[in-house]
Amino acid sequence: MINFIELKSVDVPAILLIEKQAQFNPWSEQMFNDAITAGNYCCGLIFNNNLIGYAILSTVQDEAELLTICIHPDYQARGYGKILLTHLLTYLTKKQVKNLFLEVHVANQQAIQFYQQVGFEQIGQRLGYYNHAHTPGDALTFKLSL
Ligand SMILES: CC(C)(COP(=O)(O)OP(=O)(O)OC[C@H]1O[C@@H](n2cnc3c(N)ncnc32)[C@H](O)[C@@H]1OP(=O)(O)O)[C@@H](O)C(=O)NCCC(=O)NCCS
Repeated sequence: MINFIELKSVDVPAILLIEKQAQFNPWSEQMFNDAITAGNYCCGLIFNNNLIGYAILSTVQDEAELLTICIHPDYQARGYGKILLTHLLTYLTKKQVKNLFLEVHVANQQAIQFYQQVGFEQIGQRLGYYNHAHTPGDALTFKLSL
């Protein structure tokens, strides 16, 4: 049984347990709390009463940015990322957003294939974008027209 929730600060400890295992450059507790209190769309994916994934969208007028998306490693490559992204795209379409942007680490082939599979196109490369992060490297910029 799958459902979606709007994430609150109380969910941050559960998010961090997944984040630390799954991400190249994990966000901190502060970053999640800031993203939630800033009024972004923070969405949790619940499977059998457990949080197994989450995503955060920042929207300004008819453009949005996917700030993060993550599925628990035990549940990856089983279609849940696509289910979560499809839910986000429905939300954005209702808000009449026209373009969705994101950045991804150049070495994150799994995520790059995921984005390309759902129709994102690469529009740029930001040299050294992650150089001060845990895993340094460039970012690729992707865009999806809705
Ligand atoms: C990227 C991520 C969100 C994708 O979610 P997921 O549930 O694993 O992906 P899905 O099972 O829905 O797969 C959808 C498509 O993505 C691609 N994909 C997913 N996992 C893949 C893998 N391990 N290798 C190659 N392609 C993969 C495939 O094209 C797949 O389509 P298919 O099943 O028809 O072949 C997830 O793997 C994740 O959380 N990764 C770690 C965090 C991360 O890197 N987030 C993005 C930061 S920008």
